[in-house]
Amino acid sequence: MLDLEYLSQNDKGHLAINGYDAVELTSEFGTPLYVMNEETIRNACREYKKAIDKHYGGKGNVIFASKAMCCKEICRIMDSEKMGLDVVSGGELYTAIEAGFPASRIYFHGNNKSPEEIKMALEYGVGSIVVDNLDELEMINNFAINKNTKAQVLIRITPGIEVHTHDYVKTGQVDSKFGIPIENGEGINAIATVQRCKGIEFKGLHCHIGSQITEEEPFIRTAEVMMDFIKTIKDKLSITVRELNLGGGFGIRYTEKDKKVDYVNYISKVSEKIKSKARQLGVSVPYISIEPGRSIVGEAGLTLYQVGGVKAASKSKVYVSIDGGFTDNPRYALYKSEYTVINASKMNRIEDQKVTIAGKCCESGDIIQEDVMISPVNVGDVIAVLCTGAYNYSMASNYNRITKPAVVMIGKSGPRLIVKRQTLEELIQQDM
Ligand SMILES: Cc1ncc(COP(=O)(O)O)c(C=O)c1O
Repeated sequence: MLDLEYLSQNDKGHLAINGYDAVELTSEFGTPLYVMNEETIRNACREYKKAIDKHYGGKGNVIFASKAMCCKEICRIMDSEKMGLDVVSGGELYTAIEAGFPASRIYFHGNNKSPEEIKMALEYGVGSIVVDNLDELEMINNFAINKNTKAQVLIRITPGIEVHTHDYVKTGQVDSKFGIPIENGEGINAIATVQRCKGIEFKGLHCHIGSQITEEEPFIRTAEVMMDFIKTIKDKLSITVRELNLGGGFGIRYTEKDKKVDYVNYISKVSEKIKSKARQLGVSVPYISIEPGRSIVGEAGLTLYQVGGVKAASKSKVYVSIDGGFTDNPRYALYKSEYTVINASKMNRIEDQKVTIAGKCCESGDIIQEDVMISPVNVGDVIAVLCTGAYNYSMASNYNRITKPAVVMIGKSGPRLIVKRQTLEELIQQDM
């Protein structure tokens, strides 16, 4: 099994999550159930912050990409860890503000922010708006002038870097839908335009090359490209870029095959590159921010389901039907993502059954994982799917009018409900 420090087997042969019996948790909170381990989340924040502090002498910060997992309690945890927060919609922004997260530490992203969302960001006094395109820039400028204020902006740049990850999570390549490319001269034009905007204060640049990236080299090349661009901006426009946000994207382990990514080493290598480039180009090292999401919450979470049926469809295909599916975890359907699956009720038995974990939606593609080895499984057993802390709850849907699961956080004083299970009444609340 994938070794996660907070998982073990108890004397009943059940999966224990930070010492708490997974089967008992499902009796108390129901299934499907997302469970998160607070210490793992906090440790990840601290590890990143320590590394950034070490390499940039306090002139940098870590911003949690809340698209990975957004709810009020997660925002509160990020606030208490003194993290920044990346939001990408009015909904994420509203959640953060309602959780008491300081607007000044929020970075507002998105490639199509609506006028209402921009007004909301200016109203709340969001610390940084990350501008994706020139139409948006014009809109922000106009709203800010009307409000007699200056919006603090970073410009999102497409660095033209290809990475080895799923096509759907690549974002930094030349033809990306995100950001403004450097290559065709649009990047420098955008900065020149910003300079003329009376309602805008230009803080710096942002880039993000993709997600679930396990090599360090693309991050180093990105840093290089961005530093070269900072030099171009200085030479052509006499503007000093004060902040460089390098985005997120650091991969995590989903199965035993995945190697552990050494984030600290990545930060150290990127900082070496940034410092050497700054010396070579005669520019100063900007304030550096990074924006991890998955690597802060991904390995800290898992999903528990109850088995409703076991069916041999053919000699080689056995379906284990669980009471959730791609409504709570769409990642296999979207990207064929691999996961570690275990029978949390029978950890003490040999994993000698090859099964396919099928969701309950009316779609053949509603699969959580295909042909995985688990211990003998019966109706009523609890199945655990590991490393679902990122892009699961936040991607959940109500397809087939299935209600969204609850989220439980295991902290120092034990398990606590941080998101209630959606009820049938809530499901039809908006229906007229
Ligand atoms: C702009 C931006 N920043 C940060 C992230 C976080 O990426 P990850 O969760 O892979 O660290 C994303 C995710 O795609 C993103 O689009």
